[in-house]
Amino acid sequence: MLSRPELGPLVTFVPNKKLPVYSWFYYKEGFSRDFVIQMFEEFDLEPNPEKTVLDPFMGVGTTLVASREYGVTSYGFDVSPLAVFASRVKTRNYDIEELRRWKDWLFKQKFYKVDAEVSGLVKRAFNRHILDDVLFFREIITGIPDEKVRDFFLLALINSANKCSYAFKDGAVLKFRKRPVPPLREMLKRTIKKMIKDLERIKFKPVPAYASVGDARQIDLEDNSIDMIVTSPPYLNKIEYTKVYSIEMELFFPHMRVSNLIHSAIGLDAKVSEEDILELSKYLDPKDPLVAFHYFKDMKQALHEMFRVLKPGGVCLIVVGNGCFPHKVIESDVILGQMAEEIGLILKDIWVANQRWCMKNRTAKVGLLRESVVVLEKP
Ligand SMILES: C[S@@+](CC[C@H](N)C(=O)[O-])C[C@H]1O[C@@H](n2cnc3c(N)ncnc32)[C@H](O)[C@@H]1O
Repeated sequence: MLSRPELGPLVTFVPNKKLPVYSWFYYKEGFSRDFVIQMFEEFDLEPNPEKTVLDPFMGVGTTLVASREYGVTSYGFDVSPLAVFASRVKTRNYDIEELRRWKDWLFKQKFYKVDAEVSGLVKRAFNRHILDDVLFFREIITGIPDEKVRDFFLLALINSANKCSYAFKDGAVLKFRKRPVPPLREMLKRTIKKMIKDLERIKFKPVPAYASVGDARQIDLEDNSIDMIVTSPPYLNKIEYTKVYSIEMELFFPHMRVSNLIHSAIGLDAKVSEEDILELSKYLDPKDPLVAFHYFKDMKQALHEMFRVLKPGGVCLIVVGNGCFPHKVIESDVILGQMAEEIGLILKDIWVANQRWCMKNRTAKVGLLRESVVVLEKP
């Protein structure tokens, strides 16, 4: 185990907040562009379209956007259609003049009131004027025939609606605070202008990035096809990603059911049999919470898949946080390293990027909680 505190800020989303394109969708759970690029450089990944990178827990596509900047072909999968949508919009090529023309067209459209059924949750999140504007622009934008242009403006609208909302994400829960909010039309105009400017600033190489809905436990890729994996799965203390995005899902992905998504997420789906418990007791105590058994059962399947798709000599970097529970800290980094070795990967190192105390009842220290990078290689 090696202490690498310089990686601490890089395994968070914070450095992305100021970067063109990376910042188009704020994802608290993400890591940064600089982490991905630094890993490519440390492991001498050649910037070459024939080199392949995978993120099986893609989130909003940080690994894929960085791969496009660096010049390698990339693949990403996520169970959340919202995350996949954001990743796709961020990794495409655009005709900037065409976007400008559509922007002018968009703001020339005359407002009318759209009659739409919305839930109590959505009503709570917006004042009436903002909601009317969101529904109006949603209708206008979804009528744009070109998918690329439509998705680009829709992501801008999702972003703008968030900034004009009373709702905010506090860890795994949605909270509401009435406050003065800026007019949506202005926010949308500003957001689109900035996104177009970002496209002029970012320098993408002519390499493809494939973002798809998919499950890390069953990766839709050939055996021995990937040079490097840079990824971060859900953490044991934060396996539920979907509920805080309920408003976005209802307004912009109404055909997707949040309950279905939850069931495909790591740690929330697995059925744990007596046999599994026996097998997992190598890593866990019987007293450990059931969620830990579910989580590591799923993660073992995901590790099997990562092993399968990696080329011999390929490197796999997994950013993960340990689990904080009242009775103990569950060391996810060590357990994943152990599991990976049993599967056949070589555990090269565990780099500790961040450490903080795991507290019980906010007063008693249970133990140190690490956020680490598990460094693996396929022999
Ligand atoms: C820690 S986040 C990854 C963030 C990403 N590194 C970024 O910078 O945006 C973990 C992601 O795993 C996804 N996820 C959960 N279960 C999954 C599964 N079974 N297969 C694929 N993705 C899954 C969640 O939806 C979430 O987006």
